Amino acid sequence: MPILQPDQIYQLLRNLTSPVVAITSARGGTRNGMIADSAVRASIVPSIPRVSVYIHKFNYSHDLIFETGRFVLHLLRDDQFELIHRLGFASGRTRDKLAGLPHRSGTLGLPVLDDCYAHFECRVANVMDTGSSTCFLGDVLDVGYGSAGQAVGSVMTAAYFRANMPPEWRGEYEALLRAAQQFAAERSRDIRPVIWRSLEQP
Ligand SMILES: Cc1cc2nc3c(=O)[nH]c(=O)nc-3n(C[C@H](O)[C@H](O)[C@H](O)COP(=O)(O)O)c2cc1C
Repeated sequence: MPILQPDQIYQLLRNLTSPVVAITSARGGTRNGMIADSAVRASIVPSIPRVSVYIHKFNYSHDLIFETGRFVLHLLRDDQFELIHRLGFASGRTRDKLAGLPHRSGTLGLPVLDDCYAHFECRVANVMDTGSSTCFLGDVLDVGYGSAGQAVGSVMTAAYFRANMPPEWRGEYEALLRAAQQFAAERSRDIRPVIWRSLEQP
């Protein structure tokens, strides 16, 4: 068997990435949104819909979701590049990334973006620590299509985004990815046991 280099292994692993999703969260009067390409279906039971997503600990969204146990995951259309740039290239720690972006308060009281393919409102059922990130398992409590109606267009995938993002964003995207990889490399071995609140004994 040929020995694969780490970069080759990473390129193979990229085939396992999910659609590009926007994740919103809120705590008190603060609201936020970020982008992730690590969300997948996490249940085969139609009556128990679940998703999972890995969120790096350096992201502001991580703190909001960990502290509130709630998030909204939005599938995006494959023409929503501007939204990905707005939510996924800069942190909301110092500014409101949702300002001016049409949204409403959903069933869980979190921002639901009007313009998306579909959205899933989620309550965290469990978590797994990876050292550098947390994998959140979410029970889907409410679902809806975007304002354009029932599943209009195609869903944005990670591969489509990487291949078609405006060329002037590529340098920034790659620098952000390298910084995230550096953060993860320094912490990935430091896995902590975490018992999610809802699983704690009363
Ligand atoms: C295409 C794309 C995919 C991303 N995937 C993830 C991901 O799966 N997990 C994650 O923690 N961050 C991911 N990010 C990075 C966050 O969206 C980014 O760090 C964002 O600025 C976080 O915002 P916040 O600090 O306001 O939460 C991705 C960014 C892009 C552009």
